Amino acid sequence: MIQVSPSILSADFANLERDLKRLEEAGADLAHVDVMDGHFVPNLTIGAPVVKALSKVTELPLDVHLMISEPHRYVEDFASAGAEYITIHLECDSDIGETLAMIRELGVKAGLSIKPGTEVDAICEYLPLCDMILLMSVEPGFGGQKFMPESIDRLSKIRSLIDSTNPACLLEIDGGVSPANCKEIIEAGADILVAGSAVFGAENMADAICALRG
Ligand code: DX5
Ligand code: ZN
Repeated sequence: MIQVSPSILSADFANLERDLKRLEEAGADLAHVDVMDGHFVPNLTIGAPVVKALSKVTELPLDVHLMISEPHRYVEDFASAGAEYITIHLECDSDIGETLAMIRELGVKAGLSIKPGTEVDAICEYLPLCDMILLMSVEPGFGGQKFMPESIDRLSKIRSLIDSTNPACLLEIDGGVSPANCKEIIEAGADILVAGSAVFGAENMADAICALRG
């Protein structure tokens, strides 16, 4: 079963509790939370205190995507804030193996993300430490961008790497995902689809989430 993790980057930030409830009612599996530091990416969003507040008002597992330069300094805060997944970027400045291990020791599922320009083989040495790989299909930083078509081949390659080394690891894709391209994304092997504008911009959120499952 394909899971859908709507990105609250496209929600109404003045009404996050209401929008999380709408996601629950519309059948979302997770809520994707984009954390940006204005350094790793050219945009700023929210931090652990907001994640903590959100975890108190939703049953949805929080899928926290850290687009920050030094995640090892903050994973403990996000773990105690109630994250289900904490995903760091392979391109960040922290020690990747140590940070992934730290996340798991905190009792949280560990994710590793790569940007569109990073070789997919670079994830190999870390795969045994991961519960999720997050493939970016746009340059991280902003919602509402166009899906990069070369992501389909990259997704298939990561699927094979996961299947041969750590089949329990889930494969998530993030950026420009919509009902128009979800079929090929699912065929290429994704387990979890992140979608911001396609869910929050839809006339009917439940229909959009249903359509994304393919
Ligand atoms: C981009 C974020 C995404 C983004 C997805 O840096 O990681 O999660 O919010 O938004 P859409 O689905 O609109 O591309
Ligand atoms: Zn994201």
